Amino acid sequence: MDNNQSTDAVNEEVVDKVPKHIAIIMDGNGRWAQQQGKGRVFGHKAGVESVRAVVTSARKLNVQALTLFAFSSENWQRPEKEVSVLMDLFMYVLTKEVKRLHKHNIRFQVIGDTQRFSDKLQKNIEKSEKLTADNTGMVLSIAANYGGRWDIAAAAKKLAKQVKQDLLDVNDISEETLNQQTCLASLPELDLLIRTGGDYRISNFLLWQAAYAELYFTDTLWPDFKDEQFLEALSVFNQRERRFGKTGDQINNVS
Ligand code: IPE
Ligand code: IPE
Ligand code: MG
Repeated sequence: MDNNQSTDAVNEEVVDKVPKHIAIIMDGNGRWAQQQGKGRVFGHKAGVESVRAVVTSARKLNVQALTLFAFSSENWQRPEKEVSVLMDLFMYVLTKEVKRLHKHNIRFQVIGDTQRFSDKLQKNIEKSEKLTADNTGMVLSIAANYGGRWDIAAAAKKLAKQVKQDLLDVNDISEETLNQQTCLASLPELDLLIRTGGDYRISNFLLWQAAYAELYFTDTLWPDFKDEQFLEALSVFNQRERRFGKTGDQINNVS
């Protein structure tokens, strides 16, 4: 556990309602590097520091689940060299950081279609998931070769198989049964979805899970997004009124 009392005290002042589940579209690495006259890869490497900062902050705030979009199912369309550097970086970070996650009682998992990754990377992912499987602290999910449509289609396929095997009646297919087959079903509902990098879109991230998430977009490029920017997002989240279809008066118990 972390004993940094002073940091915790500051954080508590800024954030009184801590979201249980936060997801981030970590965008803007390439532009960050290009602004400095460097290659895009430089930005991806710098982005790893932001991942560290945000994981640490979230853990200290007792966020239950943090889900980070690292590589989309569409990102394979990038130049081969960039894809290969991203894979190497993923491998390197896994090897280097997982022990630290384990030390902090974080449960690590990858969501997405991992079968397209190299055998070596798949084994490394499995090893990391196994090592941290019994941890009871924050759940860190890395979305890699993930797509929101893939997630929903895969869930539909699983239900169809159950129907075919007579394990499920077609009439029992519901939002609940489909939800159970999607990634992240065992975690708290997504409360806050952050996107860095200035674009206002979801880019096929958590389409199903984001149904009632608060959306927070910032121009800050991912390598510049650290504790301070994360706390700013949480402070904006704190000012939102989440109505879930009800009226404001109902939420505030005004009759
Ligand atoms: C996000 O940064 C990281 C990945 C998609 C892997 P980008 O690489 O998309 O950076 P920009 O959006 O081109 O600046
Ligand atoms: C979304 O960023 C994917 C990740 C952050 C991993 P992109 O840069 O791929 O999104 P688009 O292409 O601008 O929508
Ligand atoms: Mg981008």
